[in-house]
Amino acid sequence: MAKPSLNSKFLRLPTSPIRGFPQLKTIPPERLISLGIGAVNYPAPQEIVKPLIVYARQALKTANLYGSSQGDQELRQALVYWYYKKYKIKALQPTSFLIGSGSSELIPWVMEALLPPGSEVLIPEPYYAYYSNFATALGISLVPIPTSIKTGFSLPAISKLKASTAKAKKIRAILLTSPNNPTGSVISKSYLTQLVQLAKEKNWWIIEDSAYSELYYQKHGPVSILSLPAARERTVVLSSVSKNLALAGWRVGWVVSLAQSAIDAMVSRKAEIRGCASVPVQRAVSHLNQVPVSYFNGLRRELKARRNSLFLGLKKMASLGVIVSPQPPVGALYIVVRLPFPAEAFVRWCLSGMDGKSGFLAKHQKTVFCVPMVTKTGSFFISLGDPNLVRLSFGGSHEQIKQAIPILRQAIKEYQSL
Ligand SMILES: Cc1ncc(COP(=O)(O)O)c(C=O)c1O
Repeated sequence: MAKPSLNSKFLRLPTSPIRGFPQLKTIPPERLISLGIGAVNYPAPQEIVKPLIVYARQALKTANLYGSSQGDQELRQALVYWYYKKYKIKALQPTSFLIGSGSSELIPWVMEALLPPGSEVLIPEPYYAYYSNFATALGISLVPIPTSIKTGFSLPAISKLKASTAKAKKIRAILLTSPNNPTGSVISKSYLTQLVQLAKEKNWWIIEDSAYSELYYQKHGPVSILSLPAARERTVVLSSVSKNLALAGWRVGWVVSLAQSAIDAMVSRKAEIRGCASVPVQRAVSHLNQVPVSYFNGLRRELKARRNSLFLGLKKMASLGVIVSPQPPVGALYIVVRLPFPAEAFVRWCLSGMDGKSGFLAKHQKTVFCVPMVTKTGSFFISLGDPNLVRLSFGGSHEQIKQAIPILRQAIKEYQSL
């Protein structure tokens, strides 16, 4: 009997290079140290967690209806103050925000609202791998700005960027992630100012993904493009509590823009159709301005210590042919390194041997997982990606990172002598 088939266009979408290893589901957690996924293993701020208990108690006594599709009014009001406090942006209103269930939900909404099918988005690569999934689904092309591990993934001079895009007719936006996933680089204010000028000349939208805005390990945090007056009417910012407040599982993110027509279009075409983000969780997150500076300082101090341990451990693998950037990353949660061989097969081998026959786990108690940046199913690149690159997250506990380094070293040695 004939069976109904799946949509072949859907099946052609890239899948996650992070989650695409079936072995990850079968290896017992005590035998695997994951340096894969980008979640911050750090206590959540009590100033936000405790109110959730209060709101949950209240919810026992009341009807639990849909909330505002645009987002909880108290949260949007609190975010107005958050942006004023952090970046001195005065012009924002609660209507400038749209709240989503994490920012992942909102990335394709932003793309779809700003960019018709067939248009192009300029993006420094490597980039957050999931952008290409969203873009492909919408018929949008990503146009890479290549960067290299040798120069710490620094961006090209604006004059070069100008020259390389001089004849491009379909570019409608530039997408910037600062601090960056996966490279950890932060774009300076002077570079951003020049980029905004270029975007104005070309009439591009600027999409800023600030999912890691609080995770920086230099004196000053990243500049928000929204705070640059020349960028205001063309900038749409995505952000969330997942990394910045160590609340990934709470699923609260937002879009903010002074281009009111963009926010209104997303509210009416997307948000109102899907109902709303979780009401009690949004209300609890509205307490974010009560989180003291000491919380963020503590979070950064801890992540910086984890970053330093991982970076030093990786640097010491130079004798095995491992290449790291000249300096440790100044933001986000990841370190990119170049292995002396293609990464995907190596990572697969590190996860092999649960059957007791061959592979790293057949011989060792524990193994590590890191993310190959180019796989058969998904990639952090559009143009020629280097298959030897891997991304390692320092979001896990310091203890895990310290345990992972000698295991990774051993795995590289053994793999080389196979
Ligand atoms: C650059 C970037 N943007 C957005 C997201 C999505 O985060 P969330 O949906 O948890 O807000 C991530 C998650 O890893 C990310 O790395």
